[in-house]
Amino acid sequence: MTPDLVTELSATAPTTARTALPGRATAGPAAARAPLTPAAPLTPAALSRIVRELAERPDRWIHHVRLSTKDRWYRRLAADEDHEVWLISWLPGQSTGFHDHGGARGAFTVALGELEELSLGGPERGLLVRRLPAGTARAFGPEYVHDVRNTAAGPAVTLHAYSPPLSSMAHYELRAGGLVRTSEEGPEQW
Ligand SMILES: [Fe+2]
Repeated sequence: MTPDLVTELSATAPTTARTALPGRATAGPAAARAPLTPAAPLTPAALSRIVRELAERPDRWIHHVRLSTKDRWYRRLAADEDHEVWLISWLPGQSTGFHDHGGARGAFTVALGELEELSLGGPERGLLVRRLPAGTARAFGPEYVHDVRNTAAGPAVTLHAYSPPLSSMAHYELRAGGLVRTSEEGPEQW
C-alpha cells in the first residue's frame, strides 16, 4: 500500500453498458490498422479533475441516481479505452469493506451527503479515518486499499473515475496483523 500516493484529494465501484465518452475517436479504418498498444493510464490528479468537474454538472448524472436498500447502488456513466466513470449511491450503513482496484488508479468525490474512509497508514500511523463531507475528493495510485462507508444519517452520492478501467477488485479483512486478502471479483460480478 502506498498512502503517499494519495493526494489531497476512493470507493469501490460497482450496470455494464459501455458508452463512449463524447469527443473520443471511434474505431475506423485507420484505427483498425493501429497497433494494439494499451492506452497509458491517466494520473490520479487527472482522474480527480474528471470527477470534480462532473460533480459540478449534476444535470449530467442526478437523474440516474437510485437508492437500494440491498447494497450500494451503482451505474457506469461512461467508459473509454483509458478510463471509466461510475455513479454510486450509499444509504446509511452501506460500505465497501477493504478493497483494492486491481492495479487501477482512481479518484472519487462526494457529490451529496457524507462518507467516511478507512485506510492503513503504515506501522507508525496505523488505521486512518477520514471524514469526507460533500465536496471532498480523493485520488489514489494503483496499490491503494481502503474501506469507504456511509456512517452518516442520510444517503450519499459519489462519482468515481478509474484508469485503466477496472478489471478486478480484491477484498480484504482487517485483522490483528494487518490486511488479509479474502476474495477477488471481476466485471462479471458488476
Ligand atoms: Fe475503492
